[in-house]
Amino acid sequence: MIHLKGVMKNYDVGGRQVAALRNIDLTIRKGEIFGIIGHSGAGKSTLIRTINMLERPTAGEVVVDGVEMTKLGTGKLQLERRSIGMIFQHFNLLSSATVADNIAFPLRLAKLPKEEIARRVEELIGLVGLTGHGSKYPAQLSGGQKQRVGIARALATNPKVLLCDEATSALDPQTTGAILSLLLDINKQLGITIVLITHEMNVIRTICDRVAVIDGGEIVEEGPVTDVFLKPQHRTTREFVAQVSDVAAIGLETSGSAAAGNRTLVRVTYIGEQTYQPVLYETMRETNVPFVILQGTVSKLKDTPYGQLVVELQGQEGGAEQAIALLRGRGLDVEVIQHG
Ligand SMILES: Nc1ncnc2c1ncn2[C@@H]1O[C@H](COP(=O)(O)OP(=O)(O)OP(=O)(O)O)[C@@H](O)[C@H]1O
Ligand SMILES: [Mg+2]
Repeated sequence: MIHLKGVMKNYDVGGRQVAALRNIDLTIRKGEIFGIIGHSGAGKSTLIRTINMLERPTAGEVVVDGVEMTKLGTGKLQLERRSIGMIFQHFNLLSSATVADNIAFPLRLAKLPKEEIARRVEELIGLVGLTGHGSKYPAQLSGGQKQRVGIARALATNPKVLLCDEATSALDPQTTGAILSLLLDINKQLGITIVLITHEMNVIRTICDRVAVIDGGEIVEEGPVTDVFLKPQHRTTREFVAQVSDVAAIGLETSGSAAAGNRTLVRVTYIGEQTYQPVLYETMRETNVPFVILQGTVSKLKDTPYGQLVVELQGQEGGAEQAIALLRGRGLDVEVIQHG
């Protein structure tokens, strides 16, 4: 659906070239919710804005639904932008226009007949849950309601893609949750491809299918959220995962029973149906290995249940190895954190 190939962006800062994006290759699939996470200044906004050419890349190609955006002139670009909606952290609403007029704005630009605009605006107001608020002004709305207007406006021209630049960063956690479920509903109902950028892992784990981690203008890690979240490889990714998971933040603490001799610290990860099965219990009963759970999370990544436990295996020589082999044999991921 969206292909970025070798995308570079340099900014001219007082005659000096500063690289904001370095050789970005990304493929975003039709109908998915794709997240891009990174620290402040990593290049997130620059990256998402190259998708609709609000920023022209210094080099590389951007292809959206088969159209090479980098090659379009102003007129064609304006037309193409109707199929790419965008929402912003600070909503970017017209303060002097009502909710209905804000939503109607792109439809008037597209020169739709008046009656059709009125009908479409009413439909959009219903879709985003703002029925009865059409004649209010932005100043009379809460942050969450303002973002709903932003979403309705972005969807007005029936885009194929919705770009979200930190769309929930100005909202409290509860309102963030409500806006994220609205985005998820819209993705499911309309099949629209959503690309969002954020610095919050919570946003990624709540609604994204796949994620890319950007650091210093480069993609340092990429994959399904279940992989990246449960087995982060890059240091930056680990930092983000630690925002929402105690397990990732664990040091090498043990139960402290050093005198017990053999102790092996493992991180056990299971996804899907196994989350609700007594695999750990059965394995330990079979092998007779005493164990202590030092840390544990059972939660969901979008719709996928998962569990991650840090377990200390104790006791007889060889017992831990046998238990690890059995757990792996049952399809669990077991990472040995510390041996001995
Ligand atoms: N118009 C500009 N002129 C010069 N430098 C810029 C411009 N826009 C961005 N930059 C620089 O490019 C880099 C990436 O900026 P960008 O806004 O994409 O980061 P970001 O990840 O969106 O950060 P934040 O989370 O703070 O929004 C930064 O070093 C920034 O200072
Ligand atoms: Mg930004």
